[in-house]
Amino acid sequence: MQTQVTAEDGARRPPALQMTGIAKRFAGVHALKGVDLSLRGGEVHALLGENGAGKSTLMKVMFGIVQPDEGRISLDPIGAVRIDGPRDALAIGIGLVSQELSLVPQLDVAQNIFLGRTRGLKLVPRRDFRRQAREILDDLAPHLQIDTPVSALGMADRQLVEISRTLARGGRIIAFDEPTSSLTPAEQESLFAVIRRLKAAGKAIVYISHRMNEIRAIADRVTILRDGEVVASGPIGDYSEARLNELIAGRELSREMSTEKPAPLRAIPVLELRNISTARIRNVSLAVGAGEIFGLSGLVGSGRSAILRACFGIDPLLSGEITVGGAGVALGKPADAMRAGIALIPEDRRGHAIVPMTDVERNFGLGNHDRFASFGVIKGAERRRAARRYVDELHIRPPAIGTEMRNLSGGNQQKVVIARWLATGARVFLFDEPTRGIDVGAKAEIYALLRRLAADGAALLVVSSELPELLLICHRIGIISGGRLRTIVDNDAGLTEERLIALAAREDNP
Ligand SMILES: Nc1ncnc2c1ncn2[C@@H]1O[C@H](COP(=O)(O)OP(=O)(O)OP(=O)(O)O)[C@@H](O)[C@H]1O
Ligand SMILES: [Mg+2]
Repeated sequence: MQTQVTAEDGARRPPALQMTGIAKRFAGVHALKGVDLSLRGGEVHALLGENGAGKSTLMKVMFGIVQPDEGRISLDPIGAVRIDGPRDALAIGIGLVSQELSLVPQLDVAQNIFLGRTRGLKLVPRRDFRRQAREILDDLAPHLQIDTPVSALGMADRQLVEISRTLARGGRIIAFDEPTSSLTPAEQESLFAVIRRLKAAGKAIVYISHRMNEIRAIADRVTILRDGEVVASGPIGDYSEARLNELIAGRELSREMSTEKPAPLRAIPVLELRNISTARIRNVSLAVGAGEIFGLSGLVGSGRSAILRACFGIDPLLSGEITVGGAGVALGKPADAMRAGIALIPEDRRGHAIVPMTDVERNFGLGNHDRFASFGVIKGAERRRAARRYVDELHIRPPAIGTEMRNLSGGNQQKVVIARWLATGARVFLFDEPTRGIDVGAKAEIYALLRRLAADGAALLVVSSELPELLLICHRIGIISGGRLRTIVDNDAGLTEERLIALAAREDNP
């Protein structure tokens, strides 16, 4: 089955897998409306589209998790195939790294990599499968130990185990659904090296991401879904970035995504950090004013998120002081921070922050008890009204607030979590990667929202790995490395991506 296919052969041969006229309705949502997709061996096919466009659903159909109402799948050289479940998909060589992680936390890394292969497990001696797990990890994540329980791993490492698990199963068609959402740039590079090798070996790869630079780096071909339909498909070289964004959003984004910098600002400090140190950061001092958006730039692990955790009372202060509105804040725990008017919108929103089996309205109300309850009784009408307003402002889809959270697409779940925190009426907002996993159109909506919060007098501290994002929304940017705040720069006309990179590099090798 694993014949080598050269690029030339790939072009002449029929597609490795062809999906035709795939349609799927869920209660109230027409998620896929007759989608065609052809995957060729030796090619990386990017699947793009807004949050809720149908990307994950299409991949779940291909992997047998979702049964389509209409359409057919054919596989070269077998012809039409029925895929009733992941077992069928795996048996005919289809693999999926899904957007939601599906690991068993109690088991160790190697056990998770070979999870669900009960028959295989009996055939492959234990020592052998641990060796295989080690080999796969050597390529992708050499730092991981095979006998660490998954419960002890952070998000990024879990994602790497999930990917390794799909790789271990082999197959000639492999789909990656937002595989890099919590990886560092270095880990992303290792993954890309693995994908390039798979491609060279003739595999057909599907790659889903909202990050355009990744798409440019890895994809050969692109298909764009909007509202469950294919709106464009072709070689990636045929599309400019502006055109891709337009096709994804269904409208021109030039205005919202303009490169115009925020107007300079002289503001009264609201949040002040004076010489704070925690286990992860040393002597950080900064002040964020009313109406100001202050960016934190630096590599993953440099201490950016640790600064936010300190401000929210998660990591205890070893020394220094934090004040809000001039008054010192006793930060023993997040509840103290919330009482002081501080909100943290964490990076790992899907991991911690949602209750999948309850509806959007209740998920929105979580943590907003004080606002939507009096004496323990939920003020339903008020909560409903507020939830509807945010659903509308952030274009959460589908818009019915009674939808169960688990039936929302990944990006839309994130928007619900963001809405929850916006509704707290805090004065200080700490955002960790506010637009990770969010489509380009909704990004513009979130930027508009951040600007509005600032215009209303809030102080915003924003961690982002996306330099264009920092340059677009921040008044000032602090460069973090090795747990220290190295410099603070004004986001004026002279500040460019290149200069930010140069500053960070200089601070790394003093
Ligand atoms: N099991 C389900 N029940 C009801 N609706 C569903 C279910 N699964 C998906 N949907 C709906 O189908 C649509 C497509 O969702 P899908 O997860 O495929 O989007 P996506 O393109 O992957 O988005 P994202 O970029 O946010 O991950 C959405 O409107 C979603 O709410
Ligand atoms: Mg998805």
